[in-house]
Amino acid sequence: MRTTRQWVLDRRPEGRVADADVRLVEVPLPPLEDGAFELEHIHLSIDPTNRLWMSDTAQAAMPIQLGRPVRAFVYGRVTASRHPDFRDGDMVRGLASWSDRSVLRAGALIPRRRGMPLSAHASILGMTGLTAYFGVTEIGRPAAGETFVVSAAAGATGSIAGQIARLLGARTIGIVGGEAKARRLVSRFGFDAGVDRRGPDLLEALRAACPNGVDVDFENAGGVILDTVLKLINPGARIVLCGMISGYEATGGWPTNDLSQILMKRARLEGLLVSAFADRYEEATSRLADWALAGQIAWDVDISHGLESAPSALARVLAGRSEGKQLVQLAPDPWDEAA
Ligand SMILES: NC(=O)c1ccc[n+]([C@@H]2O[C@H](COP(=O)([O-])OP(=O)(O)OC[C@H]3O[C@@H](n4cnc5c(N)ncnc54)[C@H](OP(=O)(O)O)[C@@H]3O)[C@@H](O)[C@H]2O)c1
Repeated sequence: MRTTRQWVLDRRPEGRVADADVRLVEVPLPPLEDGAFELEHIHLSIDPTNRLWMSDTAQAAMPIQLGRPVRAFVYGRVTASRHPDFRDGDMVRGLASWSDRSVLRAGALIPRRRGMPLSAHASILGMTGLTAYFGVTEIGRPAAGETFVVSAAAGATGSIAGQIARLLGARTIGIVGGEAKARRLVSRFGFDAGVDRRGPDLLEALRAACPNGVDVDFENAGGVILDTVLKLINPGARIVLCGMISGYEATGGWPTNDLSQILMKRARLEGLLVSAFADRYEEATSRLADWALAGQIAWDVDISHGLESAPSALARVLAGRSEGKQLVQLAPDPWDEAA
């Protein structure tokens, strides 16, 4: 019987995920029926959303049921197929779980691009890069010379969003946890300035970095950070509500915000779910790859090795310790020409 190792959710976490909340088990793989294919996982995408899915808070997807696998996006290689669209050896992105392999009925074929390892397809060209692309170009739409602010700015989504806004001619300001990260925004990602959210007075630091106010806010944090940015928005500002990570580990519901400035400044606040743009992923991937290969957008990946490391990798993301898109690598990256 074919088996896989898999993390399951035993208990809903309170705050940070504790050892007793998740458990690594070995389970049989389902039989390969018509319309299914088997995927060997090479990279697990470790996302703040993994933590949100563990809660029973109201959210876009169904919370993970207790005793069920920890849901995750995965990037891997087809090892057997009875699906008309996938063949042995194809590289595929799928929604699966923290496990070594899975049997799936749906996925997206990943076309090879020279110079882009599979880890790039799981980061700048993956769900976080796509989120940044659509959030900036479709919702935020910064005009040249406007001020663009993004929170979690050194992270997988934020760093790409800021660089796209800069390419569109905006002045880009990032909010991050720590002064070293704030400096890195400027040196590595070409932001105009970085602001430390843990500093003594976030509002004053942000005001100093945005002397002309804020025209676009790409919001990844919510809570206090959103409240602070809203105090500085200009008339007609656009707020791209991409994430509310400050609330993902909270118990007892979502943080509430003062929305008065949305009214007073005739601003527009719009929620972003990347899946709403699924029919345009190819267009976005191609544009992001062109920018990346031309050296116009930098991206970082932070790789943990081994399935055992998945919970600690998630803890790194939520503590702001990841240096780029957090992945867990389970097998050699076949497209990594440097490896
Ligand atoms: N809507 C969508 O379709 C979609 C898709 C992908 C991602 N997202 C959202 O995008 C955001 C970023 O996700 P990502 O995958 O790119 O992760 P990431 O930015 O690489 O990592 C998360 C970052 O969030 C920051 N953070 C953690 N706790 C925080 C808190 N309490 N308050 C403020 N900031 C905190 C940390 O950065 P600092 O310590 O530097 O602040 C951390 O590095 C998340 O909110 C995620 O849910 C949304």
